[in-house]
Amino acid sequence: MISENRWQHILGVARKAKEFALKMQPDNEKYAEDMFLLGLLHDLGYEFLETGKGHGALGGEILQRSGYKYWKEVANHGYSENAPMTDELFILDCADMSVKADGKNCTMKERLEDIGNRYGTASAAYQKAILEIQKLQSDPRYVRLK
Ligand SMILES: [Fe+2]
Repeated sequence: MISENRWQHILGVARKAKEFALKMQPDNEKYAEDMFLLGLLHDLGYEFLETGKGHGALGGEILQRSGYKYWKEVANHGYSENAPMTDELFILDCADMSVKADGKNCTMKERLEDIGNRYGTASAAYQKAILEIQKLQSDPRYVRLK
């Protein structure tokens, strides 16, 4: 189920994705709208799962069935070694790592600490988040979001 906190996170990610979209494409309002929607949809899979495991894949599958343009980005969000890092996945992942579980904006370092506090630093979620943040921050597009 999507919890109240998660709704706050989802809305925060949508707004962050809109902000990042405008940094990537300053004159493209429609792109910002599209990225806001992508943020709103990215954690949809949680509604149908007991835990967060596999929520990206499930959300992607639901959205693919509905003909949604960015279903692959939803399916691949979070750290995924081999997923093509499209601009849209980059925006979504950066936004997801800049908004805490309660919806508040944060740095990627704070987001990592938040994940560590919730799941433990030995958890797969935490280890994946470390790799994800490294990947995002070393991407040449990262400086454009500043
Ligand atoms: Fe997610």
